[in-house]
Amino acid sequence: MAACRGKSFIITIDGPAGSGKSTTARRVAERLGYSYLDSGALYRAVTWAALQQNIDLQDSERVARLAEQLDLVFQAGEEGLRILVNGRDVSREIRMPEVTQAIAPVAANSGVRYALLDTQRRFGKQGGVVAEGRDMGTVVFPDADVKFFMVASLQERAERRQAELAAKGVAVPLEELKRSLQQRDDSDRQRAHSPLRRPQEAIDIDTSRLSIDEQVDLVIREVLKKLNA
Ligand code: DC
Repeated sequence: MAACRGKSFIITIDGPAGSGKSTTARRVAERLGYSYLDSGALYRAVTWAALQQNIDLQDSERVARLAEQLDLVFQAGEEGLRILVNGRDVSREIRMPEVTQAIAPVAANSGVRYALLDTQRRFGKQGGVVAEGRDMGTVVFPDADVKFFMVASLQERAERRQAELAAKGVAVPLEELKRSLQQRDDSDRQRAHSPLRRPQEAIDIDTSRLSIDEQVDLVIREVLKKLNA
């Protein structure tokens, strides 16, 4: 994909939890030789650190101060992208259900969102980036070159999550997964600061009936169209 190297396109992929953004963004970045920004990992890292330090997540000033002080670094590792918090690799810890369940007030905290802006925008300055999250195309990179909005039906997202968990030997009823995804959708869409919204100029992708390969191909095709325009 040499055609894309040397050009510093910013590509954003926003959408609700479980729509396939992360895997698609990671693979697209690999194919284009771009870096991959997993913005959700930053909100997870702040939440993890606050839980570690027994900070009340409703204390928005305290949590925002924590976010300002933390040293958050992404590092390429053998098992993919790692995230370090003050030098400690917490890539696994931030995916724990305790963190996912606690994240909503942290993601809704305007001070936290402000504190994380710089870290995210630095990625854009390094050159080509595929940035994935909820507010990439609307707030963090409003001038991105190509924006995508990825969705999938609740049923499909819950089934995917169930299969992922089953692969780890964890059985969770579909209805429970649907409820928890719905709750995350609601809190992501309804918060006052940087809610999940479709960027106006976004290209829509409904992944309900697409395989990962098809999603990746679709995104790459659109990016190449833009690059060659
Ligand atoms: O993409 P994810 O599931 O790892 O994100 C974890 C949480 O972080 C998600 O519930 C909402 C929040 N988030 C956000 O508010 N803004 C982003 N750009 C990315 C994630």
